[in-house]
Amino acid sequence: MPHRFVSLTLCVAVASAALSSGCRKSGDASGDIAIGHYASMTGPEATFGQSTDNGVRLALEEYNAAASVGGNRFRLITYDDKGEAAEAGVVVTRLVTRDKVTAVIGEVASGLSLAGADVCQQNGVPMVTPSSTNVDVTKKGDMIFRVCFIDPFQGYVCAKFAREHEPLKAQKAAVLFDQRAPYSVDLAKEFARHFETLGGTVVARQSFTGGDQDFSAQLTSIRSSSPDIVFVPGYYTDVGNIAVQARNLGIKVPLMGGDGWDSEKLTEIGGAALEGCFYSNHYSHQDPSPRVQEFITKYRSKFNKTPDGLAALGYDAARILFEAIDRAQSRDGAAIARELAATQGFDGVTGRISIDADRNPVKQAVILEIKGGVPTFVTTIEPER
Ligand code: PHE
Repeated sequence: MPHRFVSLTLCVAVASAALSSGCRKSGDASGDIAIGHYASMTGPEATFGQSTDNGVRLALEEYNAAASVGGNRFRLITYDDKGEAAEAGVVVTRLVTRDKVTAVIGEVASGLSLAGADVCQQNGVPMVTPSSTNVDVTKKGDMIFRVCFIDPFQGYVCAKFAREHEPLKAQKAAVLFDQRAPYSVDLAKEFARHFETLGGTVVARQSFTGGDQDFSAQLTSIRSSSPDIVFVPGYYTDVGNIAVQARNLGIKVPLMGGDGWDSEKLTEIGGAALEGCFYSNHYSHQDPSPRVQEFITKYRSKFNKTPDGLAALGYDAARILFEAIDRAQSRDGAAIARELAATQGFDGVTGRISIDADRNPVKQAVILEIKGGVPTFVTTIEPER
């Protein structure tokens, strides 16, 4: 009996020491809570991963600097998935099984988040995608969250703007989408659906495969349908190339797209071909609100550039996750997921974030116009009531 008592006491002592030192199940000597980030740090969508990682790191640095003695501290493990879905599955598996991260941030591109979400859900590890807008991502299960709006809304935003904005008032739209990207396929559908509901006509539907170099067949067919606008819900490298070829083929009407255009590289690739074109996004660096401007100042002083929407979303995602882990007072995936689900009225750089029953927030979008090569704020569009 005395023997048992001793070993029980020892157990409790070890357990409480482990708790108070923040000792991890992975045996992390530093005691910091490991957070995984999977991202396209290289490849055709490299700025997506790089900007997001910067935003997450800024949040992490601030958080750790402010952490009270004995409070949680975080450390980030980022892996490059090269913008490939198969690689995303591999690196998320590594984060979850080898690094034993407490939670995962990522991805940007919905096709990659769909791959990573399977791994996180199966292993009971909470995942927060900062920026994947495809509706199916959070349907993967109760461990999967996002802090951005979803594409049924984004499609509505673009259609409404195309139909109602003076002097655009588009009656006829052509759509050119990436048939391999779930984001592009569904955003094209949502745009077309809303455009027609709002009284417009979709006069051409064409597709390409991400990475294609020659879009002349699709663009020639689009030209012959004489649209008032060409909706191209792709990622920036393809969009830049498409814009140049569209102008070379004599298509003069504005192109329009979604958040996938959000990169400093877009106008480097597309140049003057993108002047007067529009896209929807999660934030504008021209938003005068102190919350946004303060973030921009901090980001600029650390990274020497203006943050894009991905940096802002990465920052918001990380802060929401850190706070949820704090509130959970536990590293258990289910406990953290419960706190993520309870996020209400979080004042983010990208707007007020309240997580709904489907683990998505309902947020506003902005429309930007490329003017003199700069994405310039045009208007804000609120969610439909
Ligand atoms: N929404 C895009 C997707 O789901 C990703 C993206 C978000 C790209 C924001 C740029 C900016 O695939």
